[in-house]
Amino acid sequence: MEALLLGAGLVLGAYVLIYYNLVKAPPCGGIGSLRGRTAVVTGSNSGIGKMTALELARRGARVVLACRSRERGEAAAFDLRQESENNEVIFMALDLASLASVRAFATAFLRSEPRLDILIHNAGISSCGRTRETFNLLLRVNHIGPFLLTHLLLPRLKTCAPSRVVVVSSAAHQRGHLDFTRLDRPVVGWQQELRAYADSKLANVLFARELATQLEGTGVTCYAAHPGPVNSELFLRHVPGWLHPLLRPLAWLVLRAPKGGAQTPLYCALQEGIEPLSGRYFANCHVEEVLPAARDDRIAQRLWEASMRLAGLRPGENDEPDEELQPEDPGAPCSPNTPHPEEPTASEPFPGPRNSPDLSKVTHRIQVKTEPEPQ
Ligand SMILES: NC(=O)c1ccc[n+]([C@@H]2O[C@H](COP(=O)([O-])OP(=O)(O)OC[C@H]3O[C@@H](n4cnc5c(N)ncnc54)[C@H](OP(=O)(O)O)[C@@H]3O)[C@@H](O)[C@H]2O)c1
Repeated sequence: MEALLLGAGLVLGAYVLIYYNLVKAPPCGGIGSLRGRTAVVTGSNSGIGKMTALELARRGARVVLACRSRERGEAAAFDLRQESENNEVIFMALDLASLASVRAFATAFLRSEPRLDILIHNAGISSCGRTRETFNLLLRVNHIGPFLLTHLLLPRLKTCAPSRVVVVSSAAHQRGHLDFTRLDRPVVGWQQELRAYADSKLANVLFARELATQLEGTGVTCYAAHPGPVNSELFLRHVPGWLHPLLRPLAWLVLRAPKGGAQTPLYCALQEGIEPLSGRYFANCHVEEVLPAARDDRIAQRLWEASMRLAGLRPGENDEPDEELQPEDPGAPCSPNTPHPEEPTASEPFPGPRNSPDLSKVTHRIQVKTEPEPQ
């Protein structure tokens, strides 16, 4: 009996040690008050994204939940307004699987939101589920959609600089390999899906790296963040229902809670002084060295060019003449031309008007084609 108790104590002790040292995430810290700043978090109706949005709202930011389901997005906005006691949490529709939806979101956002200080690409899928597309859905949702969205919102990020882009990647990027001859081929079966997930997460790391290079000197910085192994719906939603009673308690025991998973993306969005590390990969609120394939600038550039094509973008011009103005204080709008945020494009309530802007420069110009979506 004593041996049994001793054994149980040892197992419990080892579990607590492992959990607190390896699984539970350190809190992110960073800027305390975000009053007057605006953040967009994609896929924020559940999991890591919802906890990320909650913390931003608690710190006083205006938070736009960019989600594909109006029902789930509105419900999350309602929850977050209550939990954060911040009324400025709104839903706006964004389906990253559709380039037309990404463009519609960007148009609505730029029309109704005068500021953009933090853009967090959190939404992601690990499987195509029952959807059958003629393109690589995992790459589309996890990389091409966010790539296009970043470009469309860049003018506003630049005029609101210093501002940040965070791409939620994964340690799974280490197993990724980009085959440019079949980048956009549809994926079929769970083995191809697992590979395509890793590839898309490698694309996230390379995108952050190349974006940082392209944005040097603009005041916009970007980071790839690994949230750690998190107890969310990401993989569970594709597991047969009969396995859930077994997997859910196990996941609860050995994986990080979504709040813990939100810490590294939040760190990248909020930590002061990490600007010189723009383009780097973070895990557990620390910068980490990545494998050679994830820091190969030639591959990053090639991916950039391929992504431009797949996203229907052309370099050299920009169809969004965001005013070359920058606010003196975070409460001021970055775009004087932006209509008053009383024009409802999303969920209520909207805040009152904000104050006058100041000068800045916009350097990178990209034109959006109005052609049909590439397949
Ligand atoms: N969980 C982990 O262990 C882990 C580890 C490493 C990295 N990550 C990354 O963390 C991020 C968040 O994942 P999570 O674990 O919090 O999973 P999750 O709970 O499944 O959240 C994913 C979110 O993305 C949204 N989404 C899916 N497809 C979308 C689309 N086409 N357009 C817009 N939004 C879409 C989902 O919306 P719906 O609710 O409508 O489906 C959901 O809100 C992902 O990028 C994932 O790759 C997770």
